[in-house]
Amino acid sequence: MKLTIKLLEKKYDKNSFDCGYSLLDNYIKKQARQDVDRDLSACFVLVDEADVVNGYYTLSANSIKKEDFPENLLKKLPPNYQDLPAVLLGRLAIDKRLQGKGYGEILLIDALKRCYEISESLGTIAVIVDPIDEKAEKFYDRYGFILLPTSKKMFLLMKTIKQLLG
Ligand SMILES: CC(C)(COP(=O)(O)OP(=O)(O)OC[C@H]1O[C@@H](n2cnc3c(N)ncnc32)[C@H](O)[C@@H]1OP(=O)(O)O)[C@@H](O)C(=O)NCCC(=O)NCCS
Repeated sequence: MKLTIKLLEKKYDKNSFDCGYSLLDNYIKKQARQDVDRDLSACFVLVDEADVVNGYYTLSANSIKKEDFPENLLKKLPPNYQDLPAVLLGRLAIDKRLQGKGYGEILLIDALKRCYEISESLGTIAVIVDPIDEKAEKFYDRYGFILLPTSKKMFLLMKTIKQLLG
């Protein structure tokens, strides 16, 4: 099966998408296109030759409040920034049939690459993720994401992403 990553379009079939979490299934089935149309997020889908959606992720502009950022990292930043610019990788999901075959990692790396490219023309200090549960937290932890001390969100510095992408 040949899978490619594309920007979400109407023609892609997302009706059977099932990642095991109804929140994430319903999002791609019912909400994603509206959010894209309203410029609230960009949505990338992993599609097969039949245009069926087998996975997806979303990106949007975001920020981290200065007081939510780890103190040791704040010391390296000038004091006049209250909100630190970031990209939110809001959702990432793979259909159950394809989980555990490396596609989650492929989508994550694709997202990080895109974020890194954006950061070259628009300052962004980190990528933030919002893990749906502890399992998802462990997945992100494998790639070096760090828990924000004041929330359940995690972040990866753009500097680290640059090293990760080599
Ligand atoms: C989390 C998810 C995106 C991972 O995708 P996947 O295709 O199943 O994962 P991959 O096969 O690419 O795995 C990549 C690596 O992460 C590991 N991994 C996968 N899921 C993991 C988890 N929950 N905890 C820890 N490690 C995990 C794999 O073992 C693999 O490591 P390896 O190469 O050393 O074996 C997918 O399982 C999913 O959609 N889950 C439901 C929704 C969800 O939790 N989304 C996360 C953000 S909200």
